[in-house]
Amino acid sequence: MLWCRFPLVLLTEQKPWCRVGVLFGLFFLFSFFFFSSHVCGRNISYFYNKRSEDELSMQGLKLFEGDIILPLERNALRNSSYRWKFPIPYILADSLDLNAKGVILQAFEMFRLKSCVDFKPYEGEPTYLKFEKLDGCWSSVGDLQSGQTVSIGERCDYKAIVEHELLHALGFYHEQSRTDRDDYVQIWWDEIIEGMIFLDDLNTPYDYESVLHYGPYSFNINSNVPSITTKIPEFNEIIGQRLDFSRIDLLKLNRMYNCTSSLTFLDQCSFEYINICGMVQSRQDGARWDHTLGKPGDEDHTLVGSCAGYFMHLDTKSGHAGQSALLESRILYPRKKEKCLQFFYRLNGSPQDKLVIWVKKDDGTGNVRRMEKLHTITADGEHHWKLASIPFSVQHKFRYGFQGIRGDPAKSAGGIAIDDTSLTETNCPTNVWHIRNFTSLFNSTSKGDYVTSPVFYSSEGYAFALQLYPHGRSSSPYTNYMGITFHLCSSPNDGLLEWPAGHRQVVLSVLDQDPDVIHRMSLSLSFTTDPNQLVYGKNDTLQWDKPSITGNFSSSCNCYISPGVGWNTFLTHRELHWKKFLKNDGLFIFADFEGRTMCSRSALPKAAGKGTREKKSCLVQRAAGQAGIPLSRPKQRDRACPSSVTATFQMAVFILPHVRCPKMNFLDSFEGVI
Ligand SMILES: *[C@@H]1O[C@H](CO)[C@@H](O)[C@H](O)[C@H]1NC(C)=O
Ligand SMILES: *[C@@H]1O[C@H](CO)[C@@H](O)[C@H](O)[C@H]1NC(C)=O
Ligand SMILES: *[C@@H]1O[C@H](CO)[C@@H](O)[C@H](O)[C@H]1NC(C)=O
Ligand SMILES: *[C@@H]1O[C@H](CO)[C@@H](O)[C@H](O)[C@H]1NC(C)=O
Ligand SMILES: *[C@@H]1O[C@H](CO)[C@@H](O)[C@H](O)[C@H]1NC(C)=O
Ligand SMILES: *[C@@H]1O[C@H](CO)[C@@H](O)[C@H](O)[C@H]1NC(C)=O
Ligand SMILES: [Zn+2]
Repeated sequence: MLWCRFPLVLLTEQKPWCRVGVLFGLFFLFSFFFFSSHVCGRNISYFYNKRSEDELSMQGLKLFEGDIILPLERNALRNSSYRWKFPIPYILADSLDLNAKGVILQAFEMFRLKSCVDFKPYEGEPTYLKFEKLDGCWSSVGDLQSGQTVSIGERCDYKAIVEHELLHALGFYHEQSRTDRDDYVQIWWDEIIEGMIFLDDLNTPYDYESVLHYGPYSFNINSNVPSITTKIPEFNEIIGQRLDFSRIDLLKLNRMYNCTSSLTFLDQCSFEYINICGMVQSRQDGARWDHTLGKPGDEDHTLVGSCAGYFMHLDTKSGHAGQSALLESRILYPRKKEKCLQFFYRLNGSPQDKLVIWVKKDDGTGNVRRMEKLHTITADGEHHWKLASIPFSVQHKFRYGFQGIRGDPAKSAGGIAIDDTSLTETNCPTNVWHIRNFTSLFNSTSKGDYVTSPVFYSSEGYAFALQLYPHGRSSSPYTNYMGITFHLCSSPNDGLLEWPAGHRQVVLSVLDQDPDVIHRMSLSLSFTTDPNQLVYGKNDTLQWDKPSITGNFSSSCNCYISPGVGWNTFLTHRELHWKKFLKNDGLFIFADFEGRTMCSRSALPKAAGKGTREKKSCLVQRAAGQAGIPLSRPKQRDRACPSSVTATFQMAVFILPHVRCPKMNFLDSFEGVI
């Protein structure tokens, strides 16, 4: 198995813990402001050489927590003059890697989905965030009112790291800086380089799961000795998580900014309560969806494995063929055009049973009744819950609906079930790899073994596949990590496509199957393809050239598969079970391979901060040093920039204790609010 040079270096030369970022001369200018600088990766691929204390103090900077410059005014949390107004103007500097730009936009989408924080391209405002590729990942704390830099340096280009830096920019310090932290963690001062600061907690409980918490090995002197340990030992493996915001991160953020709305969340339902989130049954031909309590062997999706929960079920073994039942959402008011409807379903009745997804639009007279069919799912008899992701667009008020159709009651022993629906105004994943019976796969494989996904296609027509190593690749220095690789595959399209397939972004995500879309902590990792990259160990073959040139023939796909590129440290075995990555023993991996076009009105402040130089067009981003090589989707080059979204809807953010049974109160309150 060949690995490319770039990721191999990336994968093997780093240590699995957070290390200190670095500061340099530029900071003199700002040293009296709040800076926090650090690199704090998920337990994967970030390793920075820490500059010595001497070197830092030579620069006259007083550091706290190894990476924060002591601010003059520390109470950023309490002083509202450091709070941002939304949307926050941003600039993506040319110095950023293409992947970093994509990841920053992805982090913006997470804020839009989970809070009221919004961003817009800079248009000459006095205050803004300028994302640059400098040394390390760091940000100042709070809005300094004068424009400020967020550094997304080498190997900081991961969703959770950008989220972490943006939380600093929004006014938050690290979780372990709280006044009450000694009740929860033990800081081993002998093992650590610098002091700590103490801050307000916005009346929330201590959060081991915070994306702002450092990992056990932060700023340690001896790489094998932890500098932070938790009073509850189970959390030693949790602190430092870099998946996504925790519940309490979101609670604090939404409290600080008085968020009562999310920008891209519209609707969700776990069907745990009899009000079924305001959905309505339109009786059709006498058939009807039943609000059904799961039982062993016929569990719901929401609480599966812990207790019985509810789902919606249409029995297809009674009645007669052709009967149907329609379950519709309440009327929804969109702000953006694109929508993503996701839900879990199970069709285990007759092979003729069908589940049809509809959208009902405004007919022009103010009535929502113009039906449009979005998607039809036919029965497959499979007993596992499967995931559907259905993209559609609608600009005016609408409903969406689930129509179940009885195919052949005589041949049915089951029916049609749906659960855990969500509707967001975000892009839908295009390719979903559902790995069933994961535990038996896990138990029956060892280091070096892998499974290969089906062949997927990008929107441009590139074929690709993933290989998952449940116990890591044989050459991986890590234990208890899953590894994953991305491979191009040959396809009949190859003659028409651009080769090498450079400047495209690979985004791999593992779905946290929490029914509450706001609190999902899905893992998302990405990289962009470098057209000049060589196949590892070969100096005459380009990595992203045609798979028929770079790869070997595989009879399983009847295609050539290129050498893989990926992560040795994809997801830890602990993380698999900590969040709901494995529900019903199924793992869902989303895979996208797309050319990225980015709309950004970039304007760079002139030397003295006065005046601006603006470029108002949509830019097709190019990889650094590759100016002149266009991305592959020139059609989109002239597309208008999307306007920023400002309308608001009511949404409450709830916090819940980690109680599994019997009711998920937060969900229903959540669902009932709008
Ligand atoms: C908040 O910060 C501003 C700017 O530094 C300062 O002028 C003001 O006195 C601070 N307010 C409080 C209440 O500390
Ligand atoms: C949030 O609301 C409180 C109380 O109404 C107010 O004092 C504070 O300034 C608000 N914060 C923001 C960021 O709007
Ligand atoms: C998963 O396991 C079940 C029960 O052990 C078996 O019936 C089913 O065929 C398996 N599915 C796959 C895809 O391996
Ligand atoms: C997998 O292994 C674990 C521990 O060895 C065992 O408890 C479990 O039953 C096994 N599961 C399957 C599906 O083989
Ligand atoms: C690489 O290129 C050099 C000459 O530039 C050549 O000597 C060498 O054999 C080539 N192949 C490999 C695998 O290094
Ligand atoms: C292709 O096959 C050769 C010979 O078996 C092997 O060395 C190489 O690693 C394979 N390449 C890929 C991409 O699997
Ligand atoms: Zn930080």
